[in-house]
Amino acid sequence: MPRGLFITLEGLDGSGKTTQINRLAAWLKRRGHSPLVTRQPGGTATGERIRTLVLDSRSTGLAPMTEMALMFADRAQAIAEVFAPALASGQILLCDRFTDSTEAYQGGGRELGSAVVLELHRLLCGNLQPDLTLLLLPSLEASLSRARRRNQRVAERGGEDESRFEQEQDAFYGRVWQKYREIAAREPARVVLIEGDLTIDEVHEQIVEAVAERLAVLAAERPA
Ligand code: TYD
Repeated sequence: MPRGLFITLEGLDGSGKTTQINRLAAWLKRRGHSPLVTRQPGGTATGERIRTLVLDSRSTGLAPMTEMALMFADRAQAIAEVFAPALASGQILLCDRFTDSTEAYQGGGRELGSAVVLELHRLLCGNLQPDLTLLLLPSLEASLSRARRRNQRVAERGGEDESRFEQEQDAFYGRVWQKYREIAAREPARVVLIEGDLTIDEVHEQIVEAVAERLAVLAAERPA
């Protein structure tokens, strides 16, 4: 069965993932690819409903296990409805967040630990692994202030309230950050760590370099 390329973007809130995923999609399109861009939570009708439930700051008192279960419910649906058919047909799939987010936020931030996240991933997601994960880790301070400014702007416009996570304290984000670094150290072949306070162009260049490398490997593996 042909297998497309599965690329995920990860990082703290405000790390610039969304800008970068859009630029990467445009870069791929200029090279004749038709990438499918999606996000988690979300990306399916059911997933968008889960997203509203889990990100809205009015969802108070959500137990960490419930939060994690909702993230996996969203993911299982996305895999069945979107990922499996896209990858089976050889498409490039770009996903804004995947199970590394659950490991970092619920495993690290909420202190549920990695083991339960990895076990649920195996049971509910068939242990599907990205071919490449681009982990954006600008300094913790820069990410947090950017994310908080953005949520304030959205709130002022009366837009959707997705601030439940941004209301967390810095210690929570410190743990998320540490867990992301741990994942990168554990899986260096999959995870490309893009660190430091770089410009948008500099990050894009590093992303493109990593993706071009994977595309070349894929092209070499496929019969002409
Ligand atoms: P996202 O919309 O990507 O936020 P941002 O654009 O600010 O990076 O993700 C929404 C939030 O959901 C983010 O705070 C991280 C959180 N999240 C988890 O806690 N666990 C998960 O498994 C996923 C996918 C997201």
